[in-house]
Amino acid sequence: MFAKKWISILLTAAVMTAAMAGCGGQAAPEETAAGQTRAAAVEEKPEPVEVKAGVFYYYGQDAFISRLQDSVNTALEEAGIAYENYDAGNDQETQLEQIREAIDGGCNLLIVNLVDKGASASSSRVCDLAAQAEIPVIFFNRAVESGGGEGIVLGGYENVALVISDPAEAGHLQGQMIGRYVADHYDEVDLNDDDVITYAMFKGEAENQDAVLRTASAVEDANQVLAEEERQELVYFDPDNSDRYQLDLNGTWSAKAAEEYMRTNLQLYTEADGKMIELIICNNDNMAEGCIRALQEKGYNTADSQVRIPVFGVDGIDSSLALIEEGLMTGTVKQDTGAIAACIALLAGNVHNGLELTAGTESYKKDTEHGLDNLIYIPYGDTVTVPDEEE
Ligand code: GAL
Repeated sequence: MFAKKWISILLTAAVMTAAMAGCGGQAAPEETAAGQTRAAAVEEKPEPVEVKAGVFYYYGQDAFISRLQDSVNTALEEAGIAYENYDAGNDQETQLEQIREAIDGGCNLLIVNLVDKGASASSSRVCDLAAQAEIPVIFFNRAVESGGGEGIVLGGYENVALVISDPAEAGHLQGQMIGRYVADHYDEVDLNDDDVITYAMFKGEAENQDAVLRTASAVEDANQVLAEEERQELVYFDPDNSDRYQLDLNGTWSAKAAEEYMRTNLQLYTEADGKMIELIICNNDNMAEGCIRALQEKGYNTADSQVRIPVFGVDGIDSSLALIEEGLMTGTVKQDTGAIAACIALLAGNVHNGLELTAGTESYKKDTEHGLDNLIYIPYGDTVTVPDEEE
């Protein structure tokens, strides 16, 4: 159901000024220090719009998404934008229904974390609803077109933008971090002393560009560092799995999926047989936490255990940062929820101020490859690795 009550807002001083300037038609000429009149500039200021944003999340139980939601809530509140949150429960039709109801209830800005990531058929349906209602759409976190279809939606509709973490970046940062860590701790990581490190890889979602690029680059980049150190490439632990990853079949990047896979893996691949998985790479922190739970059941990665298997994630959620601090997880790449949220709030503020949706975004990295000025990339934050004991 849509908003029974909009979160109350206070207009910022700047907006109030703009609003006052917009009222009453002709503004009186005003002397500036230089003796010129400012009337023309005042008249050009667009009318502010009272924004009621609907923020539509693909799946509220996704650990990173719930953290992102906190940041978006804060940024919208600070920008004085009224909003209502929705959780589609990972169902595209539910999300479209929520959008329809929201528009009927007076929502005049859609902020959408699309369920069908990368599917222009679905993002087009969102844009069609928005176009009918003559309201803008800010997509975020998940791609809205893919596979050669870039530009269909972001180039095909007016008043649409996408704010997303730079998809290629996380895998590179994670891979370099892993390569460095393994090179620096080779003997410790190589449990069976065979000079080869076997790894497991957990993928969050099929055909999600974040998941695809992280899965590929993490291993490639780690291998590059290892090659520079004259070490062998990483080897996937299960020779019968040509994918070289285990996938969350629900596509929700979940701890549960990774934990279940890992529990089964640990029944078949043991230290006693000299076949223990020596390194775990996960597309995100939540999956890393699932793997750690399975390892702990077997006595690894606890406060007291002799052997800790290095486990890496992406996102920098608080619970994973705490595990890294305790030395039970090895590393992560922080995804900058504050910067994503700030950009969304900037665009929402533009709608409020009657400006172009992407006004003031010149300093952001954009999708120059497809010439899309409305595809805005937010850089990842720092990598965080476990402190060395002797340090
Ligand atoms: C990624 C994030 C994952 C998951 C996914 C949902 O950016 O790292 O943990 O939340 O978004 O699309």
